[in-house]
Amino acid sequence: MGIKVSSFGRIPCGKETSLFTMVNKNGMCLEVSDYGATLVSLMVPGKDGALTDVVLGYDDVMDYWNTGGYLGATVGRNCNRNGGANVTIQEKQYELPKNENGKNNLHSGPDGYDRKVWDYELDEENLSIRFSRLSPDMEQGYPGNFEISVTYTLTQDNAVKIEYHGVCDHDTVANMTNHSYFNLAGQGKGTIENHEVWIDADGFTVIDAESIPTGEIRPVENTPFDFRQRKRIGAEIGADDEQLILAGGYDHNFALNKKEGEMKKVAEVFEPESGRTMEVFTTCVGVQFYTGNFITEGSNGKEDTIYQKRYGLCLETQFFPDAVHHENFQSPILKAGEPYDSTTIYKFL
Ligand code: BGC
Repeated sequence: MGIKVSSFGRIPCGKETSLFTMVNKNGMCLEVSDYGATLVSLMVPGKDGALTDVVLGYDDVMDYWNTGGYLGATVGRNCNRNGGANVTIQEKQYELPKNENGKNNLHSGPDGYDRKVWDYELDEENLSIRFSRLSPDMEQGYPGNFEISVTYTLTQDNAVKIEYHGVCDHDTVANMTNHSYFNLAGQGKGTIENHEVWIDADGFTVIDAESIPTGEIRPVENTPFDFRQRKRIGAEIGADDEQLILAGGYDHNFALNKKEGEMKKVAEVFEPESGRTMEVFTTCVGVQFYTGNFITEGSNGKEDTIYQKRYGLCLETQFFPDAVHHENFQSPILKAGEPYDSTTIYKFL
């Protein structure tokens, strides 16, 4: 047991980064880096017992630095989109970086948590790492000094538990997620269209042409967004549906059938050939189901693999996107001095 620490290379400012490797009693292996508090690799047994890496990623830190896509990254202070790139907090409007369509904000802009080198503390006995940092006042345009941590734990029952905790000295936005791209057949081994997915959501948030939520929560009933019975992703991804066409596939927030703070199983993914199943549990109210529609065609992944469109799927647990502009969406505003806590578990069967 224990946690192995190795070098993950240097980023251009000269900072060294590390890779942390831990293995549980079943041989399942998790690798994370302090660069972006990123989940780099996850070796999971299939039905034949063979271990395969089920997340997309890169071999060293400079590939993460140079290539977009947020592979495995911790995204914050606010993940997903903000229409118009602004937020009003305590009656004051704050402008955010406009890194999408020249006017919107995506994943908190070009200087996100995914590009920071985090401090870390190891708990070797429990196969757990706590990454932490102080996100200073006005970082990414958000007010308040935000003390945050992200703790990854590899459990003995083949789950990766991710816990977020933070406290800010000013009201701010707190909405963090993990951006892993899963392919349960193995990273680099084709598209995820044959994966079957179940999502416990009666509704999803409708988007406009720039993928910003309009505010409408549309029932999934009789739409390609109905995953309340497990369904092949490819079954309807090409349907003549305005919402699918706008996003080039699924790239939508599902309004989960649960309350904020309640820990519940919300999604399941099954890959028929390997027999792997992943269950997703979360305390969050929303999950962005993204089918990798914008993965750069022909980009280089880990171990000489080449990635193409739809080679991975994300289930990014979070508050609804652009919630700061929609009164009917639960607010992601964190009050000064109050704790931000959120937990998500990816469990493999
Ligand atoms: C978004 C996608 C985006 C991807 C990578 C996802 O969270 O929903 O639209 O392409 O992140 O930035």
